[in-house]
Amino acid sequence: PTATAREAIERLSRVVPDFPTPGITFRDLTPVFADGAALHAVTDALVAPFAGGFDVIAGVEARGFVLAASAAYATGHGVVMIRKPGKLPRAVLTEDYDLEYGSTTLEVHPDELERGARVLLIDDVLATGGTLAASCSLIERSGWVVAGISVVLELSELAGTTRLPGRRVHSLVTL
Ligand code: PRP
Repeated sequence: PTATAREAIERLSRVVPDFPTPGITFRDLTPVFADGAALHAVTDALVAPFAGGFDVIAGVEARGFVLAASAAYATGHGVVMIRKPGKLPRAVLTEDYDLEYGSTTLEVHPDELERGARVLLIDDVLATGGTLAASCSLIERSGWVVAGISVVLELSELAGTTRLPGRRVHSLVTL
């Protein structure tokens, strides 16, 4: 499945210069989501290395939600949503962090899982690592355990894994 997934990612993903701001090269995976066979292969490849080692899947808004929901359905698990600020209606934990283009905040409902729940964290792109580092912090502050991190695309020039020390990070394609 991983070879099929890699081929689909390389064939379907798009490079968008100067988005969302001048100087940023955006890697757009939405065409991978729009292709049923590609989404299927990518979903299977994201979860395969962690099979049996997690209880729930966390996805990061917004592209991560698509992958997390697909992976959760494929494996029979539930989804925890890590959201942008002001979206979750009940008591939240909050993490502020810097992005490649600005700064932002993520939030989670910390009461959605039992303490010690093993969470597989999924997103589309690992760039600076700020998003996933903040997500790991929210998971651990909620009393849960990060079972692993799985992403479709890792942009190695931004060295995002240095912000995820000690984490098990699985990237389907590394550029
Ligand atoms: C993108 C991407 C990751 C994050 C990676 O999300 O989907 O979540 O940036 O960047 P980092 O490793 O430098 O933190 P974006 O903010 O574009 O949100 P979206 O999915 O809602 O479009």
